[in-house]
Amino acid sequence: MLIFGCERSAKRASSKLAPTPETDPLAQPKSLQQVGVPVAMTRGVIPADNPQTLEKISLGQKLFFDRRLSADGTVSCSTCHDPALAFTDRKPTSVGIKGRVGQRNAPTVLNALYNKTQFWDGRVNTLEEQAALPIVNSVEMGHPSLDAAVAQIAAIAEYQQAFQRVFGRPLNGADLVRAIASYERTQLSFDSPFDHFIAGDKNSIDESAKRGWELFNNQGRCNKCHALTDTTRDVTNLIDNDFHNIGILFVQHKVVPLARQAEQLIKSGDTSAIDRAAIQTDMSALGRFLITKQEKDIASFKTPNIRNVLVTGPYFHDGSQETLWDVIDHYNKGAGLQNPYLDEDIQPLALTENDIDDVVALMASLTSAIYQEQGATELARQRALSRTNRPQRDTARAFGPKPPRPAPPK
Ligand code: HEC
Ligand code: HEC
Repeated sequence: MLIFGCERSAKRASSKLAPTPETDPLAQPKSLQQVGVPVAMTRGVIPADNPQTLEKISLGQKLFFDRRLSADGTVSCSTCHDPALAFTDRKPTSVGIKGRVGQRNAPTVLNALYNKTQFWDGRVNTLEEQAALPIVNSVEMGHPSLDAAVAQIAAIAEYQQAFQRVFGRPLNGADLVRAIASYERTQLSFDSPFDHFIAGDKNSIDESAKRGWELFNNQGRCNKCHALTDTTRDVTNLIDNDFHNIGILFVQHKVVPLARQAEQLIKSGDTSAIDRAAIQTDMSALGRFLITKQEKDIASFKTPNIRNVLVTGPYFHDGSQETLWDVIDHYNKGAGLQNPYLDEDIQPLALTENDIDDVVALMASLTSAIYQEQGATELARQRALSRTNRPQRDTARAFGPKPPRPAPPK
C-alpha cells in the first residue's frame, strides 16, 4: 500500500527565525493527485522491504525535524532541508553542528525518491543508505556512529514505543533510516505551471517560457543532460541519471594532485570515507571520481533535479552561482577553458539576452504551486541583480567557436 496525504498544503507566511516545525503545512506528505505526478513510477520506487504505512511516515517525519538526532541536539535533517525553503537551506554550502561548514550545497529532498543515486556524486543509491551518512558526519550531525544516534533516540520513551509499534521490535539503526526514508518518499513536488502546460493547458506558461522550452530542447542543448536521452523526454525531474563535468570552478582546483591523494586515501567502496572527503575536504571537487576512480569522472557531478530550481539556489554542487542568469551565462560561454575533462556537450551556445531571459522563464515555470509566491519574489530579486551584476557573462566566447580541449595532464 502506498499512502500519501491528500490535503493541499496551504501557503505559509515565512518566518526565518525559528526552525520550521514538523506540523508546518509545507512539511506534510504530498498528494499523488498533483498535476504531473508520474503515478506508476511513484509506486514503483517504493522498495519492497520498506513499504509505506501512515504510522511509519509520521515517525519518519518526527525524526526528520528532531534536533535530538544530532550529537549535541542542535541540528536536524530539516536544518539543511527546510520545507519552508523547498527542503534546502538556501546557503552556498551547508552548516552543521558547532557552525561547521561543509564543501557542498544541500540539494532538495523534494522528488529525491525518484533519484537512481543520491548525493552530488551518487555515492549511494537508496534514501535509506543516504540518511545514515549525515548522522555520522562530523560537520553535519556529528555522531561517532549510527549506534550512538540510536542510543540517544532510544533514551526517549516516546520513540521507543513508536518504533515498537511500527516495526514490532526494539529501535535499531536500520529501522531508524527506514522511517526517515518513508517520510522522504512522500515529498513529491509537481503541480507547476510547466506541468499544466505538459498536460495540455497551453496558456499555463507565457510566450517567453514557451520559447525557453524550445531553446532548452534545441539551441540551448539542455536536453543533452536534463532529459533521459536526446529524444526521450522524462519531465519527472528533468535529468539523465548521469554525471558530467560541466566546468564548475574547475581551474581553481589542482585536480591531479588531489586525485592522487584520493586514490591513496580512499579504498573503493568505503562510503563513509568518501562522505568525509566529499563534505569536509578539497577532494570534494573531484566529484564522481571519488567513487569510480576513473580519470574521465574527475570533477563530474550528478545532473540535478531542476524542479523548483528558482527557490533552491544558490546553484551547483558548491553553491557558487547566485542567480539563474549566472547559470545560463555559464552554459552560454561553454564553461571553463583549460579543462581536459569537460563534457563534450558543453560548448558555446550563442544565446542572446532575450534567449537567456526565456530559458530563465522556463526554469521559473518549474516552480510548484506551493512555492509560487516565494518564487515570484525570488524571480524579481534575481532579475534585479542580473540587470547590474553578471559575473559569468562572456558574450565574445558565447558567440565564438568551440575552443579546443586540452589533453589530460600526465
Ligand atoms: C548540515 C546540513 C545537512 C544535514 C544536517 C543533513 N543534510 Fe542532507 N544533504 C546536505 C548536503 C550538503 C548534501 C549534499 C552532499 C553531497 O552531495 O556530497 C545532502 C544530500 C542529501 C540528499 C541527497 C539528495 C540528492 O538529490 O542527491 C538527501 C536525500 C538528504 N541529504 C537527506 C537528508 C536527511 C534525511 C538528513 C537527516 C538524517 C540530512 N539530509 C541531514 C546537507 C545536510
Ligand atoms: C553536459 C550535461 C549538461 C548540460 C548540457 C546542461 N546541464 Fe545543467 N547541469 C548538469 C550538471 C552535471 C549539473 C550540476 C553540476 C555541478 O554542480 O557541478 C547541472 C546543474 C544545473 C543547474 C543548477 C541546479 C542546482 O540545483 O544547482 C541548472 C539550473 C541547470 N543545470 C540548468 C541547465 C540548463 C538551462 C541547460 C541548458 C542551457 C543545462 N543545464 C545544460 C548537466 C548539464
